[in-house]
Amino acid sequence: MEADPDPGAAATATATAGRRPPRARKFPEGPAPDPAGSHFERRIRSFQPRRSRVTPGQADALRRLWPLWGFDIDGQRTLDPAAMFEGRPVVLEIGFGMGEATAQMAAADPDTGILAVDVHTPGQGNLLGLAERAGLRNLRVANGDAIILLRAMLPPASLDGLRVFFPDPWPKKRHHKRRLIQPEFLSLAAGVLKPGALLHCATDWEPYAEQMLEVLTAHPDYANTLPDGGYAPRPAFRPLTRFEGQGMDKGHRVHDLLFCRVER
Ligand SMILES: C[S@@+](CC[C@H](N)C(=O)[O-])C[C@H]1O[C@@H](n2cnc3c(N)ncnc32)[C@H](O)[C@@H]1O
Repeated sequence: MEADPDPGAAATATATAGRRPPRARKFPEGPAPDPAGSHFERRIRSFQPRRSRVTPGQADALRRLWPLWGFDIDGQRTLDPAAMFEGRPVVLEIGFGMGEATAQMAAADPDTGILAVDVHTPGQGNLLGLAERAGLRNLRVANGDAIILLRAMLPPASLDGLRVFFPDPWPKKRHHKRRLIQPEFLSLAAGVLKPGALLHCATDWEPYAEQMLEVLTAHPDYANTLPDGGYAPRPAFRPLTRFEGQGMDKGHRVHDLLFCRVER
């Protein structure tokens, strides 16, 4: 289990330097509102803050379980993913939403450690509650921007897989730069993935699926696991996610992409 840093100290330093005043913490022992604070430059973000309510059950899970299974992405320390999961292979999931599919996949594969990242506080509480009820011992929940986790906190070749299921599609052209799956992101991820690691993406937004296939196919660090170089049939091990269900209700077609990190 990771010891949380003292976010209060970081916030005080920020305020002293005359920058933004610290935001009050809703969950003093839980996820911090802006865990990396001013340590990283403001950059284009792939997520938008959502102001959905934290239910009493989620709040209870955050209070009790965050100190055990949660940590903030503060960008200030290097993690040892294998040690976090007692030597198990480790798969990172970026953007778990409410976490139902994450908890199901963790339960189905107890010999793999799941490092699940999102910025969404209700989802973090929901996933912690699901993990407790299912008796999971192979899940950790990270709060903050996955880009900072990849850039500053994970050692090279430390992950056995990466999952990005239904990332925000950012449909407007002027927002395309916010999409996660881009060449720079793929290069960053390639640095922390072990050779042979599986990168699994899924989306119900056709233009984003096309972009994913194009940038992944062009990237020298990845190879399509499909012999025909196209989309993968939905693997049986990926449960239906909440966003996927909503997309399917709208008649969207879902695409899975299964690429492998190759050694150069
Ligand atoms: C459209 S939702 C999909 C959630 C879930 N995978 C599903 O299919 O139901 C995308 C999620 O990714 C999260 N997200 C986007 N960019 C992120 C980032 N850079 N770091 C952490 N989480 C991110 C958002 O907060 C959001 O919860």
